[in-house]
Amino acid sequence: MAMNDMLKPGEPRRVTVLGSTGSVGCNTVDLLLRDREAFTVEALAAGSNVALLVEQALALRPAFVAMADPSARDALEAGLAGTGIAFAVGPEAVIEAAERPSDWVMAAIVGAAGLSSTLAAIRRGVIVAVANKECLVCAGDLVMAETKRSGATLLPVDSEHSAIYQVFDFAQRDGIERIILTASGGPFREADLAHMRKVTPAEALAHPNWDMGSKISIDSATMMNKGLELIEAHYLFDMPESRIDVLVHPQSVIHSMVSYIDGSVLAQLGSPDMRTPIAYALGWPRRIAAPAARLDLAALSRLTFEQPDPKRFPALRLARTALQSGGGAPTILNAANEVAVRHFLERNIGFLDIADIVEETLSVIDGGRVTSLAEILELDRQSRDRAGRLVERCVAR
Ligand SMILES: NC(=O)c1ccc[n+]([C@@H]2O[C@H](COP(=O)([O-])OP(=O)(O)OC[C@H]3O[C@@H](n4cnc5c(N)ncnc54)[C@H](OP(=O)(O)O)[C@@H]3O)[C@@H](O)[C@H]2O)c1
Repeated sequence: MAMNDMLKPGEPRRVTVLGSTGSVGCNTVDLLLRDREAFTVEALAAGSNVALLVEQALALRPAFVAMADPSARDALEAGLAGTGIAFAVGPEAVIEAAERPSDWVMAAIVGAAGLSSTLAAIRRGVIVAVANKECLVCAGDLVMAETKRSGATLLPVDSEHSAIYQVFDFAQRDGIERIILTASGGPFREADLAHMRKVTPAEALAHPNWDMGSKISIDSATMMNKGLELIEAHYLFDMPESRIDVLVHPQSVIHSMVSYIDGSVLAQLGSPDMRTPIAYALGWPRRIAAPAARLDLAALSRLTFEQPDPKRFPALRLARTALQSGGGAPTILNAANEVAVRHFLERNIGFLDIADIVEETLSVIDGGRVTSLAEILELDRQSRDRAGRLVERCVAR
């Protein structure tokens, strides 16, 4: 019996994967390849990894593939020769992939670079599985307004938000008291500031529980990831910042919780494998099989919890403040963080400089009110510019 028999009888789900060559993208492709009858693939899109995109296209036979990097044209043409698979290159090709007719889109491009294509998918009113949390951080009001207007269904892919989605009683919102986002604490949960000042990208990339792309791994190490997730949760579940808690849970077994006015706390548990939340979104509203390791709670024996340390992890405070300030503040936070993380990975700045650059960018740029996509992209550009200058100052030090 095919593993995804739950989806049948009926039409196979027609899917598109944006960011297919990344960590979330590859996990999605892995699930798609496990049941070729349950899914057909309309489009795949990625940034610049032509070899992997071609390999995925040959395995999944999509109607169309897109590569953001315009210089990929020749290699893509050669790799797809004789297959009949249509292709295009450049940022507009990625948007075209999102616009093509599919029932379900995985939005897994990293950073604000994924905003336009995620919005293009949302505007079609289909199911959009959102891994690209940065689009909700930098343009949350716009993304939610377009979702409402088009009738799209947003399904969270982040394991924390997938957990919340699974235990959040949407029919009885009045009964919900708080959301409790769990955080692993990252590789420096127990490190002191003197050590954190000197850590290398390799040390910061070594997440204790999850195997992820480089940007989110650094965000996890600074705990900016939890700050971005706080903003993401605010938009996805329409909860005020004051009712979203963050709790460090080093084992990453409880993926998040929702507490209710009667004292109940509902949680979702699982091993740290992104194929579980991706499968939840891929099969939704049904459950489909996923090959994640099964939990052995007796072997684990102990689940522990602690408060995050605001002194060593200021990013969380910055994200909370940006969300409270509203307007363009989360857009600035996200843009400055993307710039700082890239420069940390390129060894131009130190680990602790990341939060400092975000804080200073937030203090010098006026977020104001941003509503349209053009205004958001302009604020994003200005913030990147300013954060880039702060990086230069760090380099000169
Ligand atoms: N990894 C996880 O376990 C995880 C968990 C929860 C949430 N998320 C979120 O999911 C998103 C993706 O994370 P990831 O870890 O999968 O990142 P990743 O491994 O770095 O992959 C990023 C993907 O985006 C593509 N890309 C980058 N720039 C692009 C552009 N301008 N246009 C089109 N495609 C572009 C990359 O293509 P190329 O590689 O071909 O250049 C790649 O396919 C992030 O927002 C992250 O926060 C990830």
